[in-house]
Order: sequence, then C-alpha cells, then structure tokens
Amino acid sequence: MDAIRITGGVPLSGEIVIGGAKNAALPLMAATLLTDKPLTLINMPELVDITTMSNLLRQHGARIDQSALAPDARLGEAGTTGRSMTLTTARITSVTAPYDLVRRMRASVLVLGPLLARMGEAKVSLPGGCAIGTRPVDLHLKALESLGAKIQLKEGYIHATAPGGLKGANVVFPKVTVGGTENLLMAAALAAGDTVLENAAREPEIGNLADCLNAMGAKITGIGSGTLRISGVQTLHGARVAVIPDRIETGTYAIAGAITRGRITLKGTRFDLLEAVFSAMRQAGVSIEPVPGGVVVAAENGLTGVDVMTEPYPGFPTDLQAQWMALMATADGASMITETIFENRFMHVPELTRFGADVNVHGASAIIRGRKNLSGAPVMATDLRASSSLILAGLAAEGETLVNRIYHLDRGYERLEEKLGACGARIERIVGA
Ligand code: EPZ
Repeated sequence: MDAIRITGGVPLSGEIVIGGAKNAALPLMAATLLTDKPLTLINMPELVDITTMSNLLRQHGARIDQSALAPDARLGEAGTTGRSMTLTTARITSVTAPYDLVRRMRASVLVLGPLLARMGEAKVSLPGGCAIGTRPVDLHLKALESLGAKIQLKEGYIHATAPGGLKGANVVFPKVTVGGTENLLMAAALAAGDTVLENAAREPEIGNLADCLNAMGAKITGIGSGTLRISGVQTLHGARVAVIPDRIETGTYAIAGAITRGRITLKGTRFDLLEAVFSAMRQAGVSIEPVPGGVVVAAENGLTGVDVMTEPYPGFPTDLQAQWMALMATADGASMITETIFENRFMHVPELTRFGADVNVHGASAIIRGRKNLSGAPVMATDLRASSSLILAGLAAEGETLVNRIYHLDRGYERLEEKLGACGARIERIVGA
C-alpha cells in the first residue's frame, strides 16, 4: 500500500490549479442513464471514485469516451482544467448495481433514481456503513415511494419498481440529504406531472446537476433554493456541461497555505463556493483575497482559534471539518468544532494527537487547544477527508511524517503530492510502503 512522506515546516508559496468537483461529477455521470443521447462533461477530475463510477455505469450499458486536454490547454474552456468525458447509454443492459461495485463507493446509489425513471425498475445493493457513520439511504427510498415506486429490501439489495412509471408528488425531506435530493431530481425529471422537493439540499453540486438536467431538456426551477420544482418530461436529450470547481479541494489547499503560514494562489476556483469557510479563515487571521478566476490565501504567524459548526450548505461543510481541526491545532488559543452531519466523523482525532495536537472530544464537539509546534509522526488515514487533515498537519509539523493507507486520498484528490510539491512542500509518495 502506498504512503506519503512529508518533511514539514516549509511555508508554501505558489499556485495550485483546482480540479472539477468529485461530488458534482459523480451525479452528473449518473445522469447519462436518463437518456440515450451523448452527455459530455468537461472539467472532469481524474480520481479513483470517477473510475469506480465509470465501471458501474459501463455495466449498466454506458459507453464512456475520455479525452485528456493537452497540458497547455489545462486552463482552457470556461477557465476549467482536466479532461472531458462523453457518456452515451443508448440502451440500459442491466438494471442491477452489484454489491462488489457499490461497496467501494456509496455514491453508486445515485444510479437508483435514473434507472427507475428510465426503466421502471432498479436493483441496487444497499451501500452499508462506512468509516464516518451508518449513512442509511432511507430518505432516498421514502421519497421515491412518494413518486409511486414500490420498494423492497431483499438479500442486501434495494428492489425498486414502478411498472406504470413514476408520478410527480410533493416530497418534504425530514432532513437535508445531498444524495437523496440528487436521486429525486433525476427521478422526477422523467416522472409524469409535477414534483416539489422541499427542504432540498442547496449544495452547489445540486445546482450543477439541476443545470445539467435542464440543459438535457428537464424543467427544473428553484435552483439554489431549498424548494425545487420539477415538471416531468417524456425524454431527455444530450448536453455539454462543465463540472464546477471542487470546493473541498479548494478549502483543503487554502488551509495548506494557512497552516504553513505561506501564500498560495488557487486558480480555476470560485470564492462564492466557500464563503462560510473563508469567513472563518478571515476571523482566524488568514488573508483571503478573491481574484479573477481564483483566490489568494496568505497567512503569517499568530492565527487565532475560531469555533465552527458543520451544517448543510451554505454552512461550514463537514467535508472540511477534519482539515479545519488541523489548522486550529496550530492557532493561538482554544476553539470548538461541532459536527452535526455525521455521528462518527472524529476518527482523525487520535491520529492528530500523534502530532502533539491537543484535542478533546465531548459528544459531537471537539475542543482544540492550539500549540506553537506540531511534531511529525507516523499516522494512519481512516477516510478521505481525515487523510487530508493528516497531510496538512504533516506540512505544518517539524520533522518527518509518514501518512499510511493513503488509498483514501486518491479517491478525492488528484495529484496531491505534485500540486503541493510545486509550492515547495517536501512531500513524496512511497509506492508499496
Ligand atoms: C454527500 O454525501 C457527499 N458525497 C459527502 O462527501 C458529504 O460529506 C455529504 O454529502 C454531506 O455534505 C457525495 O456527494 C458523493 P447526505 P451523502 O445524504 O449524499 C443522513 C466526501 O468526503 N441520511 O447529505 O451521502 C446521513 O447519514 C463525502 O467527499 C439519512 O439519515 O450525504 C448523514 O448523517 C463523504 N438517510 C446526513 O443525512 C438518508 O437516506 C447527510 O447525508 C440519507 C442521509
């Protein structure tokens, strides 16, 4: 298994180009199942999760063509980076999403809504728990039932049918769910009649999906608000859509600049995607300056502790909670982090304490008492964002850090060691450590 070795203490300086958002790209890819025409996605990140989704979609019948942009075109179309991907699902060849693929990535459950809408049938493995919590899909299923789906759970699979087709309905989500909102948007796009989704997630990735569906011929209004209205249509056609910049990658590298007391220009991203995080960073004493096509982050010594609570968008994202904790471990004074989205998302705490971080967890909150210096240590990554918090701590710490089990990182960060290395970080991947 690969590991990453870091010799910390170097203030980062330079530019990092942000890729397309993993969590926007995955539902956009699933939207291919709604049409027999080609869907082209530009600004696609190159990540293990994207490969997993490609494999899943191929076994449902999708043909996937990828084209890498030439290196000199990396900041090309619409100021975007990365490659493009064209997905064409002329015919659905299987309505089953098997356990072996779904267990690798929970976002596989996003094929449920589109398969059901197009085929009137879907059989999707239940995803099961994961390192950050139990993560049920009951809200997806209840909402699909409101649209007329019949759902049975058998032998670890969700068996969903809608023989007469799905029918528009009023759905009130009892809790904000990103994946649930995405599944319902895709299902309702092809349902008969009107659907209203209330207490819908407002994450920018939802807006990206809704805009894509509209470009494919869907009729969705209320985008960006908590109430989405969908007038079902009979068929959808192809489209060409750009994946929005990855706000979690942006936030992670912004924190990398701040935790090393350096100065980094983040390109190909948008300030407005991360206002809650940038506002907390400013309160902590970090300079954040929006510039055309990006953001400049700079920090000097003497950051102060700032409390944050994770919340659905536009609140502070749970996917940056672990990275924020690493930053707070190096700030002056105490701070508190309250996690309200997942019940078990403090797995990084015991690992951060190996750097000398002073963190105490009380239920859903963690108290962090900042210290002048962290010291490098061998640590173990437990999930994607926990892994990136350990990388950040390693960049700030004195001496050598070895982050083991980094396969999680490759699910969500493209060429991380290359991007950080270009800003002066002493970081290397050890293959097969
Ligand atoms: C999405 O997961 C993201 N994944 C996660 O990013 C992110 O942490 C999460 O949203 C919250 O922002 C993708 O977009 C692919 P939810 P999702 O449904 O859709 C509970 C990362 O690191 N819930 O909004 O699965 C659930 O257990 C990942 O990139 C139910 O109880 O999240 C959680 O407590 C990790 N029943 C809360 O709601 C349900 O049916 C929010 O989950 C669905 C969810």
